[in-house]
Amino acid sequence: MPHFLDINKTAPADLRAMIDQAAAMKTDRTGRPKGAPDDDQPLAGRMVALIFEKPSTRTRVSFDVGVRQMGGQTMVLTGSEMQLGHGETIADTARVLSRYVDLIMIRTFEEDVLLEMSDHASVPVVNGLTNRTHPCQIMADILTFEEHRGPIAGKKVVWCGDGNNVFASLAHAAGQFGFDLTFSGPPTLDPERLFLDEARTKGVTVTIERDPARAVAGADLVVTDTWVSMHDSQTTRERRHNQLRPYQVNEALMAQAKPDALFMHCLPAHRNEEVTDAVMDGPQSVVFDEAENRLHAQKAILRWCLGV
Ligand code: CP
Ligand code: NVA
Repeated sequence: MPHFLDINKTAPADLRAMIDQAAAMKTDRTGRPKGAPDDDQPLAGRMVALIFEKPSTRTRVSFDVGVRQMGGQTMVLTGSEMQLGHGETIADTARVLSRYVDLIMIRTFEEDVLLEMSDHASVPVVNGLTNRTHPCQIMADILTFEEHRGPIAGKKVVWCGDGNNVFASLAHAAGQFGFDLTFSGPPTLDPERLFLDEARTKGVTVTIERDPARAVAGADLVVTDTWVSMHDSQTTRERRHNQLRPYQVNEALMAQAKPDALFMHCLPAHRNEEVTDAVMDGPQSVVFDEAENRLHAQKAILRWCLGV
C-alpha cells in the first residue's frame, strides 16, 4: 500500500517524481481561480478523509482545496468528534474508514497512531504531522527551494532552533535529496540522533554547530520553526524561550549566510520570537511560497498514493 508516512520511507525516485509533478501542476494552474477544476480531474470519484487531532490552517485548507481541484471530495473530521476520541481503537477506525473513503490523511500526536492507522487501513494513509515528523511540509519546502534556486542537491541547509518534528523531516530529506544539513540549537533541544545518523549513512554531511553565526556561514537556506510545538508542554515555555533566544533568525544572523540565502518557516510563526519581522517580511523570505506550495506538493503526494 503506497502510504506517505515519512520522507525516509519513500524512494528517492518517487520523491523526485512528486516534486517535478507538483511543479508542473502548479504551472498549469497559473492565473486560474483557486476553485477552478484541474483539466485532468485525476481524483474524480475519490473520497478523502482528513482527520485532525491538532489545530491546523495550512494542512487543512491545502489538502481540502487540492483534492477538490483534482475532482475528488473531502470530509474533514476532528478527533474529538469521532469515536476515535472516545475509546474506539485506531485499528477499528482504520478498518471502518477504509470501507468509505479512498485515502486517509491524519494529523495526530503520537507517531504510533499514524503507524497503527496505516497498518490496519486498506487505503493509503498520509502523515499530516505527528509529534515526530512533518513530511508534507518538507516536500513543499523542497519544491519552494528548487523553484527559487534550482536543484537542492549539494546545497547547505541550516536549521536554527528546536530539534523538532519539522527538523526531523528535513533531516530525512537531506538524505533522500542529497543536501548538507547543520543543526544549531541548545543541547537540551537536540533532535534524535537517529535522524542525523540516518542522513549521514546516505552520504551527506550533517553537523551540529552550537554557535548560530558559525552555523549559518555559507548557508543557501536558513530554516526555523516555533520554539514551542503543539505537543510541547506549556510549562516549559519560559525555559525554552530562554534557551532558544540566541537562535532567533534576525537580520544580523542572515547577514552571516550567503547573500542569496533563502529563509523558510513552515508557519505559523511567532513573530519577533524565533524570527524577526524584518526577516519574515524581507527579500530573502519565501514563507508564503512555502505555504502555497503545500497545496501543489500534496496534490502530487495524493496522486502518487492513489496511482493516478
Ligand atoms: N505548517 C503547517 O503545517 O501549518 P498548519 O498547522 O496551519 O497546518
Ligand atoms: N513544530 C510545529 C509545526 C506546526 C506546523 C508543531 O508541531 O506544532
